[in-house]
Amino acid sequence: MSHVLAIPDTVPGPRPRWAGLPEILSMRRDYLGHMKRLQQRYGDVVHQRLLGLDDYNFFHPAQVRELLIASHDGMIRWERATQVFADAHGQSVLVAEGPAWQRQRKLLQPGFSPQRVQGFVPLMVAASRQALDRAAPAAGDPADIDFEQLMTLLTMDVILRTLFSADGATPSAASEEAAWAVHELGRVAMGEMYVPVSAPLWAPWKRGKRLALRSLDALIRGHIARRRAVRAAMRGADAPPEDLLALLMSLRDEDGRELGDTALRDECMTAFLAGHETSAAALTWLGWCLAAHPDAQRQAIEEVDGVLSGRVPEAADLTRLPWLSLCIKESLRLHPPAPALFSRQAATELRIGGLTLRPGAMLRITPGVMQRDPRWFEEPDAFRPERFDPACGHPEIPRGAWMPFGAGPRVCLGSHFALTEITLVAAMLLQRFRLAPVPGAAPPEPVLNITLRPKQPLQLRLLPR
Ligand code: HEM
Repeated sequence: MSHVLAIPDTVPGPRPRWAGLPEILSMRRDYLGHMKRLQQRYGDVVHQRLLGLDDYNFFHPAQVRELLIASHDGMIRWERATQVFADAHGQSVLVAEGPAWQRQRKLLQPGFSPQRVQGFVPLMVAASRQALDRAAPAAGDPADIDFEQLMTLLTMDVILRTLFSADGATPSAASEEAAWAVHELGRVAMGEMYVPVSAPLWAPWKRGKRLALRSLDALIRGHIARRRAVRAAMRGADAPPEDLLALLMSLRDEDGRELGDTALRDECMTAFLAGHETSAAALTWLGWCLAAHPDAQRQAIEEVDGVLSGRVPEAADLTRLPWLSLCIKESLRLHPPAPALFSRQAATELRIGGLTLRPGAMLRITPGVMQRDPRWFEEPDAFRPERFDPACGHPEIPRGAWMPFGAGPRVCLGSHFALTEITLVAAMLLQRFRLAPVPGAAPPEPVLNITLRPKQPLQLRLLPR
C-alpha cells in the first residue's frame, strides 16, 4: 500500500452529535453538496457517526477500486437501500446478494455482451428515427422542446423494443403513464432511504407509489403473458432468442430449470428501470453540454457527417466517432446519471489502507464528487472532452477517477448497451438538428432523484439542419 493511501488511525470527520441528525438532514437536503463538503474539509476518507452506525466515505480512486474489486466479497449493499429497491425490482440481479446474485449475474451477462448488444443496433436506430421524426419542428422552424421528455420516451421505447420487441411507434398514453410511474417511484424511494422502515402500501399517503407499482407491474407482466401465449400457440417450438425476454426465457439454471414468472418479471423490471432512466439522464445532460458548447458540437456534427454521409449509423460506426465518444465521456464525468453508488456495508472485518472496518460499518462511494476532483481533472467544472484524449497532452487520469458505471464484480451490467445507445441516438440527433439553449433560460441545476436530473425539465432549442 503506497504512503499516500495510508489512512490515519483516527479517521477525520464531523464531530458526532445528536446521533448524526445534522449530517442526515444535510444529506437529505443536498446529498452531493454534503459529500463534496466532507471531502473538501476532511480529505479522502471521512467518518460520520449516523444513528449509531460508523459511516465511511471514500474519495480516492485507488482506495475506491480496492474496495469495489479486492474487498467485494466482504461487502453487501446497504440493507435499507436494498429493501427500498426491492419494492419495484423484486429479487432481481440489482438487489440480490451472495450466491443468488452470482448465479443471476452469470446467467444474464451473455445478454449484455458487446456482440449481443450489436444485434440490438437496428432496434435502437428504428426507435431513434421515430422519436426524432416526431420531434422534427413543423416546416423546418426552430422549436423549443422538452428535451428531457423526448429522451425519456425514446430510451423507454429502446428498452421496450430490446426487451419485448414492442413496437412503440407513438408516445402512447401508456408510455407517458410509465414515465410518470418511474418518476414517482424514484421520488418516493429517495425519501424512504432516510427512514428506517417504509409505511405499508395501503397507507393513504402511499397512493402514488401504489399506483406507480401497479402500473409498471401490469406493463411488464402483460408483455410476459403475451409472450407465453405466443409460445404456447407455437406449441413450444423455440424461436432463436432475438430480444432480451426471449433470451431470459431460454436461460436454464444448473438443474435445467427455466426462470419462473416472478423471476422473469423481476429481471425484466430491472432491465426496464435501470436500462432507460440512466440512459435518458445521460442523453439529457449530453444534449445540454453540446448545446452550451457550440464549438464542441460543431466538431461532433462534422465528424458525424464525415463518417455517415447522411446514412443511418451501424454497429461498425461506433468506433469511428472518436470526438463524439469523448463528448459522451466528458458529459458522463460532469453529470453521472448515478452519481452515488449503492451504499455498502461491511459483512466481515475489512482492512483498507491500514484501517480496520468492523462488520456493519457503512461505506459510501460518490463518483459525482470523485469525477470533479481537481487533482485528476484540471478545471473540473469545465466541459473539456479533449482531456480524455491521450494525444492532447493532458495529465494522465488515474484509473477509477472516472467511474460512472461503478467498478468491480458489480459494475453496471448494461454499460455497453448504454454507450451504444447513447452514441447512436446522439449521432442521429446531430444528423438532423443543431442544439442550442433556449434564449434567456438559466442553466439546468442538477438534483439527485435516484438518477441525476435537471431540477426543472430541460428545454432545448432544436434547429433543423
Ligand atoms: C448511462 C447509463 C447507465 C449508467 C450511468 C449506469 C450506472 C450504473 C452503476 C453506477 C451501477 C453500479 C451501482 C453500484 O455499484 O452500486 C449499475 C448497475 C447496474 N446497471 Fe447500470 N447504468 C446505466 C445503464 C444501464 C442499462 C442500459 C442497463 C440495462 C439494460 C443497466 C443495468 C444495470 C444492472 C442490472 C445493474 C446491477 C448489476 C449488479 O448489481 O450486478 N444499466 N449501473
